[in-house]
Amino acid sequence: MAAAISHEQLIALANEFGTPLYVYHADRIQEQYHKLLSAFEGADVRFFYAAKALTNINILRYIKETGCQVDCSSVNEAKLALHAGFAPEHILYTSNNVSFDEICEAQSLGIHINIDSLSNLRKFGQKFGHAYPVGIRLRPNIMAGGNLKISTGHADSKFGIPLENLQEVLELVKETNLFIRTLHIHTGSEIKDVDIFIKGLDVLFDLVPRFPELEVIDLGGGFKVPYQPGEEGTDIPALGKKIKEAFTVFREKTGRHLQVWFEPGKYMVSECGYFITKVNVLKPAVNAVFAGVDSGLNHLIRPMFYGSYHVIENISNPQGAPRVYNVVGNICETDTFAENRTLPEVREGDYLVFLNAGAYCFEMSSHYNSRFKPAEVLVKDGNAKLIRKRDELSDLLRGQME
Ligand code: LLP
Repeated sequence: MAAAISHEQLIALANEFGTPLYVYHADRIQEQYHKLLSAFEGADVRFFYAAKALTNINILRYIKETGCQVDCSSVNEAKLALHAGFAPEHILYTSNNVSFDEICEAQSLGIHINIDSLSNLRKFGQKFGHAYPVGIRLRPNIMAGGNLKISTGHADSKFGIPLENLQEVLELVKETNLFIRTLHIHTGSEIKDVDIFIKGLDVLFDLVPRFPELEVIDLGGGFKVPYQPGEEGTDIPALGKKIKEAFTVFREKTGRHLQVWFEPGKYMVSECGYFITKVNVLKPAVNAVFAGVDSGLNHLIRPMFYGSYHVIENISNPQGAPRVYNVVGNICETDTFAENRTLPEVREGDYLVFLNAGAYCFEMSSHYNSRFKPAEVLVKDGNAKLIRKRDELSDLLRGQME
């Protein structure tokens, strides 16, 4: 495993670039990708990094260098991916409730497209017929994922075309002569149980005979990474083994050879990220002490939005006596990062670092309270590079008409 960025290095980066600061470790990204490649060795597989987790152009370029491809949730992400140098055939666009105009724009870029509504599928068929292969995102009615907000495959989910609409899908495919290359599902994020992927795969395997031109089964993303101490992520080697076996059996039974695609986001970039904050003030709380840092839910919303857990380390005083803290932000509403968290004694001015801060952290940040977004730094081969400047006042004014 790539050595983690040391406390000393993190402190040096915080001193050099200021806080709050996102730091990403390139080697960890590559390592994650290689773990996927080795687990799926021998399979006809393609991995598309779910760019929505972290879209900094330097991260996209680095991921491209590793050989991984890219999955986009908006046409703008696809344009960023093109800007980063990905070839159109290495870009996948999995749309959800988008306008048909956006789908046409994606088509004009020459990228792979997954469509998730009957109405857009019909319009696509009417406009492009058999000329442009397309994927269908289905809703498999499987409950999976770390919490309800990130569960996307269940029967009440807005995502995908419900399996119940299969007949309509088949009719319109026939009517408009669509070329269905891919069947897609993405059942949720933080799916630990390998069998959920197999369950989804079985749902799609059952449908294959209805789609004679099918080339790809796309099982989406959702691999779990450990967030809490002692927690385990998805067993990727076991997943690779089971998926390979399932495809072999399917091929032997049906004579159909299909490629499998995945769209990992968190798995690729969660663990590469560190978010460094500085303690502004300490205040007494009922059962703990508030450690108020120079950031808030505007920079890292996951704890407040999903109740997510991020390990926090006091890198300025790692040997300090353990005390209990509520780590909170500086936003003008309740923004708690962690409650009753035992940390080595925290002093004003200490740096607190949040782990697993690569995926959906900077990416979900905002300008709430007119605070600047943090800077981002990429550490590669031991060298740190500033990959996004900290905002300044002009960033808050940009686009506003006087
Ligand atoms: N593919 C599709 C179609 C998706 O919607 C997503 C994530 C992924 C792939 C990648 O999933 P991952 O491997 O990252 O679990 N903001 C939330 C996670 C939202 C995930 C949205 N879709 C969080 O911070 O937990």
